[in-house]
Amino acid sequence: MTTSIEISESVRHYYGQVLQSSDDLKTSACCSIDAMPSYLKVLLAGLHPEVLERFYGCGSPLPPALEGKTVLDLGCGTGRDCYLLSKLVGPTGRVIGVDMTPEQLEVAVRHRDWHAERFGFANVEFLHGHIENLHTVGIADNSIDVVVSNCVINLSPEKPRVLAEIFRVLKPGGELYFSDVFADRRIPVELRQDPVLLGECLGGALYWEDFRRILQDLGCPDVRKVKQNAISIDDPEVFAKIGMVKFDSVTVRAFRMPLEDRCEDFGQVAVYLGTIDLNPHSFDLDDHHHFETGRPLRVCGNTADMLAGSRYGDHFQVLGDKSRHFGLFDCSPRPGSESAKADSACC
Ligand SMILES: C[S@@+](CC[C@H](N)C(=O)[O-])C[C@H]1O[C@@H](n2cnc3c(N)ncnc32)[C@H](O)[C@@H]1O
Repeated sequence: MTTSIEISESVRHYYGQVLQSSDDLKTSACCSIDAMPSYLKVLLAGLHPEVLERFYGCGSPLPPALEGKTVLDLGCGTGRDCYLLSKLVGPTGRVIGVDMTPEQLEVAVRHRDWHAERFGFANVEFLHGHIENLHTVGIADNSIDVVVSNCVINLSPEKPRVLAEIFRVLKPGGELYFSDVFADRRIPVELRQDPVLLGECLGGALYWEDFRRILQDLGCPDVRKVKQNAISIDDPEVFAKIGMVKFDSVTVRAFRMPLEDRCEDFGQVAVYLGTIDLNPHSFDLDDHHHFETGRPLRVCGNTADMLAGSRYGDHFQVLGDKSRHFGLFDCSPRPGSESAKADSACC
């Protein structure tokens, strides 16, 4: 199994034939336990049981402030996140799910009317295709407000192509928000091609530094970790093969906008207005920017741009501009946070 086509086939077989429900997974890499905000848990209770049974994600990559937006879910599977998003974007928004495995999509499509009837509106469509080439399913340049994905990019044999497609289809100021499995090193090639390790979202896990470099090459030099949870490998056979690698489920946020490769200090300050629906008290941009409603926080130039230049701009007051520079900004993660342990970089 060496070509991209063979790897894709192996993944399709795993999700179409081998797995019938989340119980069939050998590890918790897909389906790792990640605390979901309570407002999402309430929505989850209203989804069809079969959609929930065949959920294989590794987080809950659903950012706030989605009403009326167009959201694209890459590798949507049986549609759990698409149906949650359907409620979050509401009747004026639109949700598009893309997946390459017919058996997964069949379940998602079969329950579309059921959800539309319950919600009182229909705003979800499912497309059969490869996330490496979103042209083939008709996703136009600059057409998407938010791209989400839940435990899928690791499965792609062509990650730079997937990420390039994301930045092609996002509107300027649009957001990429996804959860995926990351490894603390590059995985040896023979393990990357092992069908079980691959299917379990371990063999193809992203190595953060390589992921960061791909985004940098695509014009996104500042990408933020929002959450990070360790994944334990409890299956003895799987551990015997790949137990030397440390895996984490990471939720990542990036924006399509010009940013600097380091955090620079222009004396700017941001205040969260508390106006995002269901988030009256605070907003977390990442694992080291917690904005309490009404409390001014000093921010670097990149953070100021992320807040002011995205859909979050309506919910923040960003004071100051870039006319005066004060040197490098100390944007280091809060002491003790996962990022503080893992990163020496600025943001
Ligand atoms: C781990 S499952 C996650 C499914 C879904 N996001 C969820 O949370 O339940 C991975 C899904 O990604 C799909 N997938 C993997 N590689 C893909 C690719 N290159 N193009 C399209 N879909 C892909 C698989 O068919 C499968 O449905």
